[in-house]
Amino acid sequence: MGHVSGNNTGFRLCPGWFDRQAQESLVTLLRKSVAAAPFYTPTMPRTGKPFSVQMTNFGPLGWVSDQRGGYRYQATHPETGAPWPPIPSPVLEVWRRLAEYPSPPEACLVNYYRPTAKMGLHQDADEEDRAAPVVSISLGDTALFRLGGTERRDPTRSFRLSSGDVVVLGGAARMAFHGIDRIYPGTSTVLGDWFPEGGRLNLTLRRVTVGR
Ligand code: SIN
Ligand code: MN
Repeated sequence: MGHVSGNNTGFRLCPGWFDRQAQESLVTLLRKSVAAAPFYTPTMPRTGKPFSVQMTNFGPLGWVSDQRGGYRYQATHPETGAPWPPIPSPVLEVWRRLAEYPSPPEACLVNYYRPTAKMGLHQDADEEDRAAPVVSISLGDTALFRLGGTERRDPTRSFRLSSGDVVVLGGAARMAFHGIDRIYPGTSTVLGDWFPEGGRLNLTLRRVTVGR
């Protein structure tokens, strides 16, 4: 398996971590969990502007955003009030194999990108634990991922993330700016009849609190 690192900044791209069959079984598992925690449209702090991605979470803590409360982690779904479903075991397995971190992840953010959705350049900065990496899994249509440095003005590189790829932002890359510039519609069939219009799912694993 090719690991594109290029340097020792703590950024790793693991192309094809999940083969097609593993992607399909993961999609089936995710679909069941999402039935208990439906996607919702988060809104921006202060402005209340809706995100173009839809979100839900698995695990003890979920990342949420809305006009009144801003960016935060909470134990319950903002619309149903229910605790988030557990993180599926094949997803936890990715963390065990790649995170090089003793504590388990507490949050698995699930982003759904419609073919026109994108995500602006940002840092993952709402976690108390910055020693743990951020590990993310791509499923469905290919995305153009942009990775910068720890300052917004730093130069950026772009990568295509395909279905089954895993990205690790650890070490010096833990606080790197990153975003999704675009989705390439029609590049994967793995989401099947769950999302007839296609699009992309991204699962982001994070440790939130400092491990006990
Ligand atoms: C994120 O930064 O929350 C998502 C990144 C991605 O979709 O690959
Ligand atoms: Mn992020």
